[in-house]
Amino acid sequence: MDVMDRGLDATHARIAELKKKFGSDLVILGHHYQADEIIRHVDIVGDSLELARRIPDIEARSIVFCGVYFMAESAALLARPGQKVYLPDHSADCAMARMARASDVERVLEKLAASGRKVVPLAYVNSSLAVKAVVGRFGGAVCTSSNAETMLKWATGEGDAVLFLPDRNLGRNTARVLGIPAERQALISASGNELDSDEARNAKLLLWPGCCPIHESLMKPDMVDAFHSHFPGCRVLVHPECTPEVVERCDGAGSTAYLIKEVEKAAAEGREQALCIGTEFHLVHRLMERHAGRINIIPLAQASCPDMEKVDAEKLLATLESLENGAGEVVVEEAMKEPARKAVVRMLEHCR
Ligand code: 13P
Ligand code: SF4
Repeated sequence: MDVMDRGLDATHARIAELKKKFGSDLVILGHHYQADEIIRHVDIVGDSLELARRIPDIEARSIVFCGVYFMAESAALLARPGQKVYLPDHSADCAMARMARASDVERVLEKLAASGRKVVPLAYVNSSLAVKAVVGRFGGAVCTSSNAETMLKWATGEGDAVLFLPDRNLGRNTARVLGIPAERQALISASGNELDSDEARNAKLLLWPGCCPIHESLMKPDMVDAFHSHFPGCRVLVHPECTPEVVERCDGAGSTAYLIKEVEKAAAEGREQALCIGTEFHLVHRLMERHAGRINIIPLAQASCPDMEKVDAEKLLATLESLENGAGEVVVEEAMKEPARKAVVRMLEHCR
């Protein structure tokens, strides 16, 4: 055992000791993309929807959220009065969420409202709380990759058109499932300069120009073809943040929870020789190890999320050590609470 391993062992031991000390006053939540060194300490692991759903039932005074900033912000929004939410590294901020600024979203929605059309905003949960607050004020809601179909169906029934943000890929992939034709979709820019074009005025779905760089640029359609030709009859399953060109060639697309469930089913049935998974690498690697010897799990690409990786065991320990003095707490601005909660609650109530 080298010095580094001894150091890491001591870190893990101290985390376990502090968890014991805080007992039921502390709950640690973790997203599926977190590294194993975090997952081993997590009390509740889940996809974005599952983690948001669990918050209202948590009674502990302190919630340590191991994930990225927008997730911890949503947890802080749904937390009980007096409960505190901590994120071990506040710079862990989803690259896609940074592609939609609240001031830009607000300006675009104001322009759309002035045009006389009722355009309902639907924000993917991978967005800042400030964006969710704007969306809530304009009568919209939040969605996750687990319920995007349900929520897009809801939003299309509420007005003349939907503004889906920030992920153009999730928007397009969901629209395809719901049968919204490509010619009724329009990609806009954050300036909203093209909102007067015929394409935008006829669109049923306006798409914000955001994406996840990990799922978009690192997972390519030819990789799907290469897997299919190496393993005829075997499936490729991906996260719907991949481009429509990738998703169309795949055998299934869904949230991290969906991907885990499909791998578990395939491993139990033992009918498939291999299964290719296209999502963040920490999760794929965990599935490869967990099901080794039963099914051959192959990553579509070795794509890890640099923001998710920022939360490590050392930072988790530092957060727990300073829990009593409030360092690392995620605080939600008072003015944003009510409108942002409206947008999140619309989703939770609609997808009970
Ligand atoms: P899930 O909601 O599927 O867990 O995905 C969150 C995410 O950030 C995907 O990149
Ligand atoms: Fe954001 Fe992409 Fe990382 Fe998910 S994988 S947290 S969408 S940057």
